[in-house]
Amino acid sequence: MATIVAESDVNDEPNVTDPGAAPYGNFINYYTFNPPENRLCLIPNTLLNDIGYSTKSHETILVLDVGCNSGDLTVALYKHLQGAAERNLRLLGFDLDEDLIRRAELSNPFPENISFIPLDITHNVLSRTQLERYLAGFGRSRFHLSACLAVTMWVHLNHGDTALLEFLGRLASLCDHLLLEAQPWKCYRSAARRLRKLGRRDFDHFKTLEIRGDIARHITKHLEDRCGMELVSSFGNTTWDRKLLLFRTCERKQIHVASFTLLIDAVIFHHEKLRGPHEDITPHGNVTLPSVATLSLWLANI
Ligand SMILES: C[S@@+](CC[C@H](N)C(=O)[O-])C[C@H]1O[C@@H](n2cnc3c(N)ncnc32)[C@H](O)[C@@H]1O
Repeated sequence: MATIVAESDVNDEPNVTDPGAAPYGNFINYYTFNPPENRLCLIPNTLLNDIGYSTKSHETILVLDVGCNSGDLTVALYKHLQGAAERNLRLLGFDLDEDLIRRAELSNPFPENISFIPLDITHNVLSRTQLERYLAGFGRSRFHLSACLAVTMWVHLNHGDTALLEFLGRLASLCDHLLLEAQPWKCYRSAARRLRKLGRRDFDHFKTLEIRGDIARHITKHLEDRCGMELVSSFGNTTWDRKLLLFRTCERKQIHVASFTLLIDAVIFHHEKLRGPHEDITPHGNVTLPSVATLSLWLANI
């Protein structure tokens, strides 16, 4: 399933020969043109300490690598975060491409501490169940840190705006800290152009996406306004001019998001209780109830 591609195809250069499609970013030789060091050099190797996990603690630190490709970055991230300190660190990398995961497993130098599983994050129930099962093995309900590097565009192009927002919500609910590298809009155009040049079918959603332009800003806004997270650091831009952002869950916002969800549930419940089976008129008179969508919008603006 994985596809060979040349550096120029991903790095926005227009002169493409025939790199193959890699419609999910599942490039077979990704790390030959984007070595882990390109991103890791921006991330302090004291990151775990900096976000509050002291080396003195005996707690096992759980890190998730979303869309881990052939695992090169996962392994490098493990070494980077481990630093000089002896930490009890466990990484779980997953990717929808089973061939890439097989390669990651075969070349894994730390099988005790790093695991790889095939998983598609857009399969809501299955992905949640599998990740929760992994966490339960450590008596946890969230990863301490999730890395989601160069994946958002592929989810967005293949599944659309709503799926991207759901994906971000799921990530936020799964971790205390989130390290994110979102591809900018110009990469979307390059990816679509590449498919066209190959005579392949366009990405299902490219033309109809409403989230476009400054993608990092849209994502940050959604994580902050809707997912109970806050931006705590920007580690600068990669050589491909992509921002590396660090978010953390914010208790105050979590409460807000939880109460907002409860409020919506309550509105839906009462709405359905009051409404007759096929009408929008309450049994109490001629009062028309606003639709659930209208109420949700109204509440979202409070
Ligand atoms: C461009 S690569 C980035 C790899 C790695 N995260 C990095 O930055 O070095 C994108 C990876 O995301 C994976 N991917 C795309 N959509 C996915 C999904 N819905 N679920 C899991 N993995 C996905 C692809 O298979 C591919 O290996």
